[in-house]
Amino acid sequence: MTDNLSHVQQHSPSSPQLRERWMRLDTAYLLKRFFFCERVLLLSQAAWLPKIPSLPVKLGLAQAIWEDALTADALRERVFELRYPSRLLEEEGGDRALVQLYQQLVHSPSVEAFLLTIARVFAPTLRDAYAEYLGLSDPIADAPTRRFLAVALADKTKQCQNAECWSAEALASAADNREAQHWANAVADKMKELGGIAVADKPASATLEPFNGSVTYSVPDKPARDPRFWPCRFYWPDNVDPQFPYGEGTALQLRSAISHLNEVWAVETGGIILSSFAQSLPWEWVRDAARWTYDESRHCHMGYDRLLQWGFRPQEIPLGTYIYESTAAQDPIYRLGMLFFFETKNIHKKQLRSRLFHSYGDALSEHDMDFDWADETMHAGFGKHWLKEILALGDRPDLTPDAVHAHCSELVDSFVMAATPDEMKDLKQRSQDLLSKASGGLPLAV
Ligand SMILES: [Fe+2]
Ligand SMILES: [Fe+2]
Repeated sequence: MTDNLSHVQQHSPSSPQLRERWMRLDTAYLLKRFFFCERVLLLSQAAWLPKIPSLPVKLGLAQAIWEDALTADALRERVFELRYPSRLLEEEGGDRALVQLYQQLVHSPSVEAFLLTIARVFAPTLRDAYAEYLGLSDPIADAPTRRFLAVALADKTKQCQNAECWSAEALASAADNREAQHWANAVADKMKELGGIAVADKPASATLEPFNGSVTYSVPDKPARDPRFWPCRFYWPDNVDPQFPYGEGTALQLRSAISHLNEVWAVETGGIILSSFAQSLPWEWVRDAARWTYDESRHCHMGYDRLLQWGFRPQEIPLGTYIYESTAAQDPIYRLGMLFFFETKNIHKKQLRSRLFHSYGDALSEHDMDFDWADETMHAGFGKHWLKEILALGDRPDLTPDAVHAHCSELVDSFVMAATPDEMKDLKQRSQDLLSKASGGLPLAV
């Protein structure tokens, strides 16, 4: 009983004034401000996934996007609760300058500038706003907000630490980082002028001109790849040669891990379609696409982790680009088609392979394939639902799901036809070297 009382005292307001600091609609207004900032931050991060070379940074960003989407979703639902029965979440209103500043992230001039600005400005500003809100809000009336915002603060604190490490690494390896520093300084100055994300104080107003050096965002035709890996377009001979056996035993274990790692294209594709359709589809699209993108990053991470645990070095491992490159300059609906049709076409084989791995005594491959299967069944639902919703927008009147599927196949087939004899020769040699190395058993004898 004593313990319970001390717990209540600890979380009780220190004075009646504090509890009444924000009325119901004031609270909703603050949470709406947080929602718009999270939303635009995650859209920019998603759009940048194909531009990030480092695999660990790409995977870490995909996780941040998912966390931000969960926070934004909880904020949005809480605003609706507080404004019941209104389900309107009108545009930014008085927070337009702040949201426009967050939108500048997508126009960062370089990877270094992008990461540095997240680390120095955009992530810590949200972190500090959440900490301030938790310090001032009413633990009785506003308890539902405080619970999810405490999780959001923990996520954002970790994201700030990650972004600091990533930007420090990127700046250290850049030949010249003055442009990135200059860009981040300009963004930080503007955020200071705006007073950050106002919590206790009234938001300041400021005019926003495009920053010197900003680069209008466009989806890259080729994805950036981590230079530690073996660079290629096709990552295994069967991408190009259907006669090349998928394999059994050790070959199947290796092929599955390589396949998982090479789902890096799916991470990038998820990020592009998330941001491309964010304006035309409802919020639920962003929430689902964030989860989809994060799941693909976990599949990629599974393969990466397994190959390293078996003793392979990144420079031996092929990391390809062909499915991503097949959709260069296409309507993003075909990127969604690639993710939907190509990622889910092997669902029926996953449980079979999981059982085979069990029979080999390879519990980790079994575990990864089984979790992957559960994710893919969910993704099939996302793909079916959202493809239908995009077609229902009416701006692609002659298109059907079957036509999207057929065009996706044509795009990949014509890209595969362009494989050169030299790259096929190199790829066969590379796969042969890996299979020979693995033939003595996995993990490799050191
Ligand atoms: Fe996947
Ligand atoms: Fe998937």
